[in-house]
Amino acid sequence: MVRSTGADMKKLKVAVLISGRGSNMGSLARAAMDPDYPVEIVLVLSNKPHVGGLELAQEHGLSIQVVDQKAYASRDDHDRAVTEALQASGAELVCLAGYMRILGDAFVNSWRGRLINIHPSLLPSFIGLDTHARALERGVRIHGCTVHFVNNELDAGPIIAQAAVPVVPGDSEESLAARVLEAEHKLYPHALRLIAEQKVRWTGDQAVRDMNAAADDVAIMGDGGA
Ligand code: GRF
Repeated sequence: MVRSTGADMKKLKVAVLISGRGSNMGSLARAAMDPDYPVEIVLVLSNKPHVGGLELAQEHGLSIQVVDQKAYASRDDHDRAVTEALQASGAELVCLAGYMRILGDAFVNSWRGRLINIHPSLLPSFIGLDTHARALERGVRIHGCTVHFVNNELDAGPIIAQAAVPVVPGDSEESLAARVLEAEHKLYPHALRLIAEQKVRWTGDQAVRDMNAAADDVAIMGDGGA
């Protein structure tokens, strides 16, 4: 996908799908402001109108589009409209960033290997919603976040990179969520760079193939890494 460094670097064209506040999209947008970051964000797309993330994207000067799920009769119709918007933007890779809608198999299959997500737990623990509450309930001492390729099973695609944070005695769901979110904002731009620089690739089976990725590229320990 990417290829060289410097001003004439050919950047990977990325679209970001959001449904809400879009803080992870914001972290990708901030990373992409660096001329040496190998990614260009070509579109921020929301399935819901009037969400905070759209405003944030505009503040970053990014193109935005709403494909309102309420305007479509079926999931597949909506997915198709999203695909059309993505294709029109020239996106080569799609980042889900708080996109709160299950994607149909046809969509997932057509973007296979080019569709990634960030999830607020150390997968395969705590698949689904309310991850921080469940982590506290379960009494884990280490929690975190995961960037993974998307496959047809919920939160189960091949893992690209993870960041770990401690669970501190006395943590509330909010304090733990805030610590993980800070780690997410570091992990997502980092993991996206690994793909853009072709250090990590999904070859089709369950595992991700690391080409030149080092251990500290794919496993960020502590409070989310430096
Ligand atoms: C994040 O915690 C992300 O891991 C999860 O949804 C949340 C989205 O937050 N998939 P934001 O919209 O990026 O602020």
